[in-house]
Amino acid sequence: MSSKPFNATRVTHPPAPATFSCRDLVSIRDLVSEDIETIFHLAGLMKARPVKFQKSLAGKQIVMFFEKPSLRTRLTFEAGMASMGGWTSFVDQTQGRLDAREKLSDIAHNVERWVDGIVLRTFAHSTVENMAEHACIPVINALSDLEHPCQALADYFTLQERFGDLKNICLAYVGDGNNVAHSLLLTCACLGSRMRIATPRGYEPDPQIVADAQDMARTTGAVIEILSDPQAAVDGVDAVYTDAWTSMGQEHETEERDRIFPPYQMNDDLVSGAAPHAVFMHCLPAHRGQEITDSVIDSVRSVVFDQAESRLHIQKAILLLLLGGEFGRFPARSVHV
Ligand code: CP
Ligand code: NVA
Repeated sequence: MSSKPFNATRVTHPPAPATFSCRDLVSIRDLVSEDIETIFHLAGLMKARPVKFQKSLAGKQIVMFFEKPSLRTRLTFEAGMASMGGWTSFVDQTQGRLDAREKLSDIAHNVERWVDGIVLRTFAHSTVENMAEHACIPVINALSDLEHPCQALADYFTLQERFGDLKNICLAYVGDGNNVAHSLLLTCACLGSRMRIATPRGYEPDPQIVADAQDMARTTGAVIEILSDPQAAVDGVDAVYTDAWTSMGQEHETEERDRIFPPYQMNDDLVSGAAPHAVFMHCLPAHRGQEITDSVIDSVRSVVFDQAESRLHIQKAILLLLLGGEFGRFPARSVHV
């Protein structure tokens, strides 16, 4: 849960409902399982009846600072805000880090006077944390080097739609133990699900993320296995997931990674070890022929575009809960449309 102090004189939105405990979404660690259930419930309602939410964020504005390129995240936040009557301003920070011109706290104290929320895509995770610490309006992590919480929530929402009870399924992640893998691990742990992750040595997930996920797992009953053998990871699982071998900001390591990662390619041979009903997942953008083959990503069992669609519904739910729109004033799980 965020430790941001509540400053009633500066708050520009109604308090979030009692069933939603966080004020920012910097990390999946900001959420408890009931929060994720609330997000999924609201996202399901918004997907089923988008028209009912057309004015939910009327008059609300967010600013989006992106230090890295984006297709899905940018457009789903923009389309999501517009579809609820809100407004977005996009600031392209790809040519210079956000705090290169002035202190991050000064940016926070400007922006909080003008708009209702801040969405950040950054290199350093600490940039998102610092913005959340200084700004008195909600801050949402739209990907940092450490985490991609909106992605992982959309992915588990997609799995819930497909399989129902997430406690009964096992997801195998094969590839780089990076931001997307981190948020999947934490979401799995929070929801009491099962996950195996197989990475090459030297590319394991961050030890603190693993420790935090294992801590949560002790309470929720989640099962998390950290492996190096991709075949062992996918054996009998319900979903197989991969991500880029070289993430944004790591381009100088491309040659070395291209030598190390091929045994972790998500190809027909690897996925044949999964359950016959298993789905194939990727956060996108995909590097076809590298971490995933055309035959897998284009398979009828691929759900990559369902995942991309889920980004819209999940982020709309997050925005509504954090910005305190029409439904944000009520316990979201009691909302029926
Ligand atoms: N999956 C994802 O975050 O895609 P973008 O980088 O295009 O936003
Ligand atoms: N791991 C990838 C995810 C892209 C959505 C990256 O950080 O570039």
